[in-house]
Amino acid sequence: MKFLAIESSCDETAAAVVENGRKIISSIIASQVEEHKLYGGVVPEIASRRHCECITNITKEALKEAHLTLKDIDGICVTYAPGLIGALLVGVNFAKGLSFASGLPLIPIHHLRSHIAANYITHQDLEPPFLCLVVSGGHSHIVEVKDYTELRVIGKTRDDAAGEAFDKAARAMGMSYPGGIYLDKIAENGNPDAFKLPRPVINNAPYDFSFSGLKTAIVNLIHNASQKGEELPVADLSASFRKAVVECLISNFVSAGRDMGYKKLVLAGGVSANRYLRQRLREECEKNNWQYYYPELKLCGDNGAMVGAQGYYEFLSGKRAMLDLNAIASIPIEEK
Ligand code: KG4
Ligand code: ZN
Repeated sequence: MKFLAIESSCDETAAAVVENGRKIISSIIASQVEEHKLYGGVVPEIASRRHCECITNITKEALKEAHLTLKDIDGICVTYAPGLIGALLVGVNFAKGLSFASGLPLIPIHHLRSHIAANYITHQDLEPPFLCLVVSGGHSHIVEVKDYTELRVIGKTRDDAAGEAFDKAARAMGMSYPGGIYLDKIAENGNPDAFKLPRPVINNAPYDFSFSGLKTAIVNLIHNASQKGEELPVADLSASFRKAVVECLISNFVSAGRDMGYKKLVLAGGVSANRYLRQRLREECEKNNWQYYYPELKLCGDNGAMVGAQGYYEFLSGKRAMLDLNAIASIPIEEK
C-alpha cells in the first residue's frame, strides 16, 4: 500500500510517498530555517505563511518524483498534532482538501509517533515492543512502544526539551538558530570536563528530566564571564554542556530499560542526530547486551517519510479522520 504523507508542524514543509510503512518512494522537504535564523528562532506566523505558499508544490513534487498520481495512492496521512497550531492547520486543511477531492481516506498522525516511525524505514527488522527516547526541539520523552499504535510515556521533561536546551545554550554562546546542530559540531573539539555543570534529577520521578537549571547555569557562566571581560572557550563549554544533557538523558533511559526489562532501545527526534548521544547509548547498549537503533541522519529532523511510515500502521489499526479534523497544539502520544 502506498501513502501520501504531509508534514507542517514546525518550520519544514514536507511531503512523501511511502510504501507499506517501510520504503520511501519519494520525499521532498522545504526548510524555512534560513529565514527563521534572522530572528533567532521560529516565528510562528512566518512559518504558517511559508507552509501555505509551498505545500501544494511540495506535494506535487513528491507525487512527480514517485511517478505516481493520486489514483495510485491508498490514503493521505497528515501530522495533526502536536506543534505550532497555525503551521499544523495548513497541512491539515490541505490534506482534508486532497481527501475530499480524491475520496481517499485521511489518517491523522501524532508528530512524535512519526519521529519514532522514522526508525522503521532505517531498520527494516525493527518491530515493537521496544523502549524509545524521543528527543526533539519541543519534547523529551521516554516512551514504551508496546505496539505500532500502542504507546505509553513513562518519563518526560518537566520544563525545557533537550533540543530547546541545546538551542538556548548555543544562542547564549552566540551561535545561530538552530544552535543544537552547531553546538554538537563545536563540542567535538572541546574538553567535556572543563566546566562543572549540574545534573538535575527529579525526586520520586526517576525517568523525568529537567533541563532549565542546566540552561540557567550555562547562561550565568557566560554572563559572569562577560561582565569580567573574560572570554570563555566555546568548544570546552559546548562539550561540557553536551555531556551534561546527554548524561541526564542516558542515565534515565538506561535505568528505565533495565527496570522494565527492555532489551531493545531506540532513539528518535531531531536531537537523535547528536553525536555524543548516539555514541554514549551505543556504549550502554553494548555493555548491557541490548539491541540499539537510531534513525539515519536525514530522517532525524522533520520529514514527510516518517509520517507515511507511521501512517501505514495507523491505517492498519483502523485509524481514520473525518473532514472535520482539527489541528491540536498539544496532545499526549497515548491518545487513540
Ligand atoms: O525533531 P525536530 O527536527 O523538530 C521538532 O519536532 O522539534 O528537532 C529539532 C531540534 C532542534 O532543537 C535542534 O537544535 C535539535 O533538534 N538538533 C540537535 C542536533 N541536530 C538537531 N541537537 C543536538 N545535537 C544535534 N546534532
Ligand atoms: Zn519534530
